[in-house]
Amino acid sequence: MYRKSISAILAIGLVLSSGSAYAQQVKSAPNGHSAIAFDNKVLNKINVDNMYNTIAYLSEQPREAGTEGEVRAVKYIESQFKSLGLETTIQPFPIYDTRVNHVIVQINGNNVAESPKPFSGSVSKKVTAPLVYIGTGLPEEIGDLTGKIALIERGGITFIEKVQNALEKGAVGVLMYNNSSAGNSFGQVQDGQNIPAVAITRATGLQLVEQLKTTEVEATLDVDIEKIEKTSYNVIASLKPNKNKDTGQIVTVGSHHDSVPGGPGANDDASGVSAVLELARVLSKTPIDTEIRFMTFGSEERGMVGSSYYAASLSKDEVSRIQAHFQMDMIGGRDAGEDNPAGGLIMYTIDGKKNLVTDLGAAAGARIRSETIPYGQLGRSDHQPFHELGIPAALFIHSPVEPWYHKPTDTLDKISKEKLQQVAEIVGASVYQIARPDTPALVNATVAQELVDYPFENRPVD
Ligand code: BES
Ligand code: ZN
Repeated sequence: MYRKSISAILAIGLVLSSGSAYAQQVKSAPNGHSAIAFDNKVLNKINVDNMYNTIAYLSEQPREAGTEGEVRAVKYIESQFKSLGLETTIQPFPIYDTRVNHVIVQINGNNVAESPKPFSGSVSKKVTAPLVYIGTGLPEEIGDLTGKIALIERGGITFIEKVQNALEKGAVGVLMYNNSSAGNSFGQVQDGQNIPAVAITRATGLQLVEQLKTTEVEATLDVDIEKIEKTSYNVIASLKPNKNKDTGQIVTVGSHHDSVPGGPGANDDASGVSAVLELARVLSKTPIDTEIRFMTFGSEERGMVGSSYYAASLSKDEVSRIQAHFQMDMIGGRDAGEDNPAGGLIMYTIDGKKNLVTDLGAAAGARIRSETIPYGQLGRSDHQPFHELGIPAALFIHSPVEPWYHKPTDTLDKISKEKLQQVAEIVGASVYQIARPDTPALVNATVAQELVDYPFENRPVD
C-alpha cells in the first residue's frame, strides 16, 4: 500500500518533469534548499579509503560459500555493522554439496574410457541391465523399457522430463550423452526419480548408439554419492529511523560476500560489500525517517541461494513495507565498462523496465555527477528474489565486466577508487532520497528528486 502511493507520486512527478515548471520548483524549493544540499549530507561523508580497506581485507582469501573463508568475511561484516550500533543478525541457511565416492559405467563388463558424472540429485544405486537407445527421450520415441537402462541424447526437452519419460516406461537407469563436445558435466533429476542417472560425453554416446545397431549391450550404472550439508550465512543489519519520524517504510541495500571457489573476488563482490558497509556508516550518522536494512548475502554464486532464503523469510507485512532494493555487485572494476559513458555503470532490472530504484539512480547520477546512467535487463544477482516479491529492485554494475571476472586474478590491484566512489555516491544519494526526514514517503513534491530521462541499453555484459 505504501509502495502504490510512491509510484503514484512518481507518476505525477514524471508528468510534471516533462515541463520546466517542475524542475524550477525543485531548484527553488520554498525552504530554500537545492537538492544538492541534501545530497551533500551523505556525499560529504563517504570515504572511499574505508571501502578500499574493506576490499583489501575481504580479498585476502577466497570466500566460497560454506567454507572458513566465508565465515571470516561474515564475522568481519558483522563486527563492522555492530560497531555502528546497528541491530545485526546472522541468518544461517543450509547448502548442499555432493561428494562423489564413485560413478562407474560398464559396457559388457568393461569400464567406459572416461570419468562419467552423476546427474545432480541422482540416487546411489548399482544396476545392470540391457541398454536401449531412445533418441532424445520424447514419449513417442519410447517403447517398453521395463528392466532396461535408457541411453538418451541430451537436448530438446529438460533432463527431468527425459528421466520421467524413461521412468514411466519402466526404465531402471538413465545414461545420457551430450549433444555437444562440451564434456560430461550436466543433468539433474527431481525428487522421486529414484533411478541412477549418469552423464557421458557425446563421443562415448555415439559409439554406443553405433554398437547397439548390431549387437545387444549390457550396461552397468554404479553410482555412489553422498549429499553433504554445509552452512552459509546472510548478514542483515537494520538502521532504525528516528522514533518520532518513522514512516514505517523500509529500503534494502544489498551485496554478496561469497566469492567463487579459489577466487579472491575483490570486485565480485567485495566491492559491493564495501559500499554496503560504507553507506551503513554514513547513513547511521544522518537523521532518517525510513528503516534502512543493509545486507550481505551468502551463496549468491550458487544461484542466489542466500538472497532467496532471506526473501522467503520476510513476513507479508515486511514485504509490503519494503519500497526498494538496491543491489551492488561488481562496482569497482578498473577494467570493466570499456569506453561506455559513466565508466559503464548501468542499472539492470529483471523485467527490463524502469522502476523506483532506476528512477532514483538515474536522477542521482544526473544531479550529483552529471552522468547519464542507463538501464538494461539482466538477472544473475540478488535483486532477483526481491523482484519476485514485487519489490522494485535493480542491480548496479559496470558492464561489460572485466576479463578477470570469476578468475583468481580478480584482485585488489584491479580496483578503481573512482568507480567505488561513483556507485557509493549514486546509491547513497538515491537511498537518502527515500529516507531523508523532510520527504515523508516522498510525498512532499517540492523536495522530491528531479526526474530525468535515461535510456534503455541492450549492452552485452560478458
Ligand atoms: N557478479 C555476478 C553477476 C554478473 C556477472 C552479472 C557478469 C553480469 C555479468 C554474479 O556474482 C554471478 O556470477 N552470478 C552468477 C549467477 C548464477 C550462479 C545463477 C552468474 O552470472 O553466473
Ligand atoms: Zn557477483
